[in-house]
Amino acid sequence: MKDLIYLDYASTTPLHPQVREAMLPYLEERFGNPSATYGLARQAAAAVAAARDSVAGLLGCRSTEVSFCSGGTESINTAIKGVAFAQQLARMGNHIITSAIEHHAVLHSCQYLEKFGFEITYLPVDSDGMVDPADAAGAVNERTVLVSVMTANNEIGVVEPIAEIAQAVRERARQIGRRIPFHTDAVQAANALSLNVDELGIDLLSLSSHKFYGPKGSGVLYLRRGTPFLTQQSGGGQERQRRAGTENVAAIVGTARALELAQQNRAAYAEACCQLRDRLLDGILTRFPDATCNGCRERRLPNNVNVSFPGTDARDMLRRLDEAGIAASAGSACNEETLEPSHVLLAMDVPLQRAVGTLRLTVSPHTTEAEIDRLLALLPEVVEGARTPEGVAAS
Ligand SMILES: Cc1ncc(COP(=O)(O)O)c(C=O)c1O
Repeated sequence: MKDLIYLDYASTTPLHPQVREAMLPYLEERFGNPSATYGLARQAAAAVAAARDSVAGLLGCRSTEVSFCSGGTESINTAIKGVAFAQQLARMGNHIITSAIEHHAVLHSCQYLEKFGFEITYLPVDSDGMVDPADAAGAVNERTVLVSVMTANNEIGVVEPIAEIAQAVRERARQIGRRIPFHTDAVQAANALSLNVDELGIDLLSLSSHKFYGPKGSGVLYLRRGTPFLTQQSGGGQERQRRAGTENVAAIVGTARALELAQQNRAAYAEACCQLRDRLLDGILTRFPDATCNGCRERRLPNNVNVSFPGTDARDMLRRLDEAGIAASAGSACNEETLEPSHVLLAMDVPLQRAVGTLRLTVSPHTTEAEIDRLLALLPEVVEGARTPEGVAAS
């Protein structure tokens, strides 16, 4: 759209031109089904194998530990339910630990498992949105079968100390003679953070290509060899029996290319985004003395601004921004139609009156200073116009 100012890169990103280029042959002449036996099919199978090798190289794991699927939500569902049901079958226990600020793909998977007798511990976060490794270790018991904590939060951009949390859990598990698989939702992390699974110390990891300039409906599940796992999608046995169904070859090729680019360009991405993010955040905090930044400022994705304007209604602000040609978010995309305040902000003890007046603005290296300045110039009118009756009375 002409003149659109897009500030919702945590929601989705446009396809990188090099990713599109890599995908095109597999949408056109190289359309073979990788499971067939002739040359055209072998060409597709080779492309999937090369993509898998590339992703494995970037994650620092074996190619056999990487499977492709339809995105972050599927990867997370498969990881959590696949491990939980395998552990249940082996009578290893029924207790899962996660955090209160996870994406709904994690939280709703856990709630689903409650129907099958699982008990869930939701770890608290501090006012910065951080999970304490000691809390994670302290929640482990002799029935714990899985821990899932996100690498970076989609609303506030906070980067959790995953290596420390995983290590604390591992040590506690060892003390009580258990080995507890650790999953991390790294969907928001790929542009900015290393995804080396050994450095993170995790057993399962979920990625979603459309968050790192790849195609929508495509994702990755890393599953460490030896991790208990029960397939969640039965059929033709593709993806080493872990995810049946004819492979989306073009999307898989695009996912690998997008991850290569994202991981290669992490430093430049972070530098460009940080500068723009700080211009935006500092610009807001100077103009609105009562506005507050949510989430730790130091341990944060380079592209995330999350600010509360007390006494306002975020949906009203979003509508006004949209009318002015600015795409932003109120937190997680799925919260916007409902009045429900963000579970992430509530877990951080952000007062309700602030939580409902919160904007998430996420930039990319393609965002320009002029775009940020245009938003900053417009914001006073947007914020004042979106004051609730209580907000007007208080101001
Ligand atoms: C942290 C996080 N996890 C999971 C998902 C779901 O990913 P997908 O859109 O690929 O299903 C998202 C998407 O917003 C996310 O931000």
